[in-house]
Amino acid sequence: MKVEFSAVPKAFSGNVAVFVAADKQLLAAAQGIDASTGGAITRALEAGRFSGAKDQTVTLLGQSGDVARLLLLGVGKGRDLDARAAEGLGGVIAGEANASGHKAVTVVVDAVKGSRLAPAEIAARIALGARLRTYRFDRYKTKDKPEQKLSLEQLTIHVAGPADARRAYQRLEPTVDAVFFTRDLVSEPANVLFPAEFAKRAKDLTKLGVKVEIMGEAEMKKLGMHVLLGVGQGSTRDSQLLVMHWMNGPKTQQPIALIGKGVCFDTGGISIKPAGGMEDMKWDMGGAGAVAGAMHLLAGRKARVNVVGVCALVENMPDGNAQRPGDVVKSMSGQTVEVINTDAEGRLILCDAMWYAQENFKPQAMVELSTLTGAIIVALGHERAGLFSNNTALSNKLRAAGSALGEKLWRMPLGAKYDKLIDSEIADMKNVGGGRDGGSITAAQFLQRFVQEGVAWAHIDIAGVAWSSKGNSTTPKGATAYGVRLLDSWIESTYER
Ligand code: BES
Ligand code: MN
Ligand code: ZN
Repeated sequence: MKVEFSAVPKAFSGNVAVFVAADKQLLAAAQGIDASTGGAITRALEAGRFSGAKDQTVTLLGQSGDVARLLLLGVGKGRDLDARAAEGLGGVIAGEANASGHKAVTVVVDAVKGSRLAPAEIAARIALGARLRTYRFDRYKTKDKPEQKLSLEQLTIHVAGPADARRAYQRLEPTVDAVFFTRDLVSEPANVLFPAEFAKRAKDLTKLGVKVEIMGEAEMKKLGMHVLLGVGQGSTRDSQLLVMHWMNGPKTQQPIALIGKGVCFDTGGISIKPAGGMEDMKWDMGGAGAVAGAMHLLAGRKARVNVVGVCALVENMPDGNAQRPGDVVKSMSGQTVEVINTDAEGRLILCDAMWYAQENFKPQAMVELSTLTGAIIVALGHERAGLFSNNTALSNKLRAAGSALGEKLWRMPLGAKYDKLIDSEIADMKNVGGGRDGGSITAAQFLQRFVQEGVAWAHIDIAGVAWSSKGNSTTPKGATAYGVRLLDSWIESTYER
């Protein structure tokens, strides 16, 4: 789909989308069309419930000679029209056009009173939202019907100051490839995307200037990462440690570390999962996918920062050689772990990845993303990811970045009483707490035992948000790429200004 920005013309034609503000307020474009069609819009507003409220839309067909099809977009009150809402409008426009099989659509961006966004910014966000909406993962469909193909080829956005809009869009556009890169990784089945294949695809980031290192089991063994290696022990696939460097910031800036859980398939291991829904565990690498996508985006927009991404990539399988419940393993940090449940594998691979990152890069901050626990879904559902952190300033920055983008977070507690629950009788700790109670918190407590002094750390449990069975205006159902934009935007707002 091609996107073009141009000045607002006197008259419109074809498939046109225009804004209507709350309480049926027609803005400039709609007023013009209403006048030239003898009040078609006014009549439509009288006939139905559409009032211009946020998220409302209505389509008018065959209203005048030139405007064949008119999509009225409710933008609500001015303050409702923020960046996220503007992206949503773009998504709705693209979705509508593709659903009805149109090749071209024109949208007119009116200034909306009370919105903090300038028209050029609204226009750029509309373009981004439309592009994000057009994602498809259809490479394994050999018989797609023509009506399932995307039809929209051209999106024309009319706005006062198209050059400003173009400039704003340039900053946003690298988001699309990065998000799609992650959605592809997360959508791939596990027979295709196993640890080495994930690493191979991440190697492509070299083209953007990212330095990519890949370590196999032999190297990790030398480093003493036995807790990570224990998880992959039952798999015929080699476990991998993927290390991505984007060092484009000031020489003296201590790097930021991003850590990702990359369980390419999680059967649970010997503590095997029930069959129902197990196919979902192909996306148990969503944290690693988000970290790789964030590196893609930082490099794509040439961010002036130093960031390293470390992803632990494994497959958790039952096997004659698999790790057993009760096994004791030693981590790179020297601490020992009693593996009570082989299905609590995410924390096991992350503890060694986190230690590796801290030992090698001395990060000032370390943010880790993982589809870690079913318990976080019980707590927060699919609306928010769980945030655990030892640092309130870091938490607040992450929460602010997330709420602006629609990648929302909710801060969860940590504390000594929870920490005690993972003490082991025979090792330094065990990998699960007593029962299921507070399951996402005890998981976070486990991770915190591997955070070094002075490191601002956050763990984001994305089990409920990495995959969407519903989708929304800018994200078709399936892989969401949650975290890609959150990490990028947090880094930009904290370290680049
Ligand atoms: N990958 C799962 C968590 C998960 C569940 C992610 C559902 C996405 C959707 C994780 O490895 C796991 O199995 N966690 C266990 C931990 C338990 C054994 C302490 C869980 O949540 O049941
Ligand atoms: Mn598991
Ligand atoms: Zn898992």
